[in-house]
Amino acid sequence: MINTLKGDLTRLDFDIIVNAANEQLAPGAGVCGAIFKGAGPQLVDACKQLSGCRTGQAKMTLSYNLPCKAIIHAVGPIWRGGDNQEEDYLEAAYWNSMCLAYEYMKRHRLDRLSIGFPCISTGIYGFPKELACPIAVSTVQRMMSIYPQTRNINVTFVCFDQEDYLLYKKELKLR
Ligand code: AR6
Repeated sequence: MINTLKGDLTRLDFDIIVNAANEQLAPGAGVCGAIFKGAGPQLVDACKQLSGCRTGQAKMTLSYNLPCKAIIHAVGPIWRGGDNQEEDYLEAAYWNSMCLAYEYMKRHRLDRLSIGFPCISTGIYGFPKELACPIAVSTVQRMMSIYPQTRNINVTFVCFDQEDYLLYKKELKLR
């Protein structure tokens, strides 16, 4: 199932939340800043052990003081005008996050799993929102059609602002 809602990702109790991270996996601003603040200082230490993460890739940590069970740190691309494979890298960030979520589901022998995504790259990294939304949705849909076992992952796109929320509702054909 794929859904959207408007809200603060750090306050929601999905099994997994995705962080719009940087390649250093260092605390930043935006949703990343909120996640590090909510999780507490142990997250900084856990991220230091991971030796960074390349653009388009994703790595997982525990969630410490946050209500979710785990955090997937996905690094989206910095928008540099659109001719630098930004779309491919954004797709990879969603795809690799879904792969990690599925591995987590299998490892913990869960029948279902919930995951909340922020609108990766569309804040500080400047990726146009109206381009990012269809990439996010189609990447998750493509994974669910190629790998039916991933359909037991409940995906929610958590939008911080009204503009994104309307884009996702339209893309998902929700009223
Ligand atoms: N819950 C949900 N969405 C949020 C929240 C929240 N609490 N706070 C912001 N957003 P951004 P990026 C939305 O800038 O563009 C950081 O410094 C925000 O409105 O958080 O991928 C990292 O460390 C926007 O729609 O991430 C990196 O250095 C979306 O989250 C860099 O910024 C993503 O905006 C990553 O930039």
